[in-house]
Amino acid sequence: MKQPVRKAILPVGGLGTRFLPATKAMPKEMLPVVDKPLIQYAVEEARAAGIEDIIFVTGRGKTAIEDHFDHSYELESTLAARGKTETLEELRSVLPEEGQFSYTRQQVPLGLGHAVWCARNLVGDEPFAVMLADDLVHAPTPCLKQMVEAYDEVGGNLVAVMDVPRAHTNRYGILDPGAERGRLVAIQGLVEKPAPEKAPSTLSIIGRYILQPAVFRHLSDRAPGAGGEIQLTDAMAKMIGKMPFHGYRFSGVRYDCGDKVGFLAANIALSLDRADLRDGIKSFIRSLDLNT
Ligand code: UTP
Repeated sequence: MKQPVRKAILPVGGLGTRFLPATKAMPKEMLPVVDKPLIQYAVEEARAAGIEDIIFVTGRGKTAIEDHFDHSYELESTLAARGKTETLEELRSVLPEEGQFSYTRQQVPLGLGHAVWCARNLVGDEPFAVMLADDLVHAPTPCLKQMVEAYDEVGGNLVAVMDVPRAHTNRYGILDPGAERGRLVAIQGLVEKPAPEKAPSTLSIIGRYILQPAVFRHLSDRAPGAGGEIQLTDAMAKMIGKMPFHGYRFSGVRYDCGDKVGFLAANIALSLDRADLRDGIKSFIRSLDLNT
């Protein structure tokens, strides 16, 4: 029996420079896809996977995230006075039980690996998930739930993977893949942001991980990697061969919402999936002259 995955780290300490000026005074993770901020999709996915504790690794200017998951008494009483019971219920359903969410601060954004390391004392000695809210996965079975089910079978470390165009390998962590079994791909090597001609494959890691606490030991040497940042991929690579390590080809569509095209695509796709918006969006798209 594997130790269950009860905790998830949600790193939200990045600067979101690709979305400036939108992200000057607002965290990237609060950008809305249709009518929900990115971070709420991630929290809902974590809960659907049975996660009990969520640890946010925040930075300066990220207090809007804490406020989003707290009571807003003035707003709630106004909604109640106006009889907007449904909206009120929806807002309240997002709130955690007291003590379920913790926040720790990454004082300097030194990279994703460093952000994960900042949560080491809150995670302790147990397996945990890492979820990047800017990777939005639209799937009938939430991506992390699929992964937890696969993890129950294989244990060790598990990362969600998908094929990307070879020209894009320099944006992602890329696998050197071994044997495949169903949706599982054994990992022989990992490399962060390789040039297309040097990439060992086109299988890319997306922002969903289940990791063993041993990774904190490897992160503690704070060695900078690609782009001068402390990379999670480098620390994960040190665990290959020491415990099971698999890529998991999740079912669903991933939108890279840290990128403008991915973010806009997510808004269109998720609107088209909504009964109350579909017709309006379709008729707007049909009205566009797409040949220009
Ligand atoms: P990105 O590579 O997208 O960086 O981080 P970023 O700073 O958020 O955005 P850009 O590239 O400047 O536009 C991937 C994930 O890692 C987190 C981010 O919040 C995001 O969820 N991150 C990154 C941290 O928490 N801390 C860091 O030091 C770096």
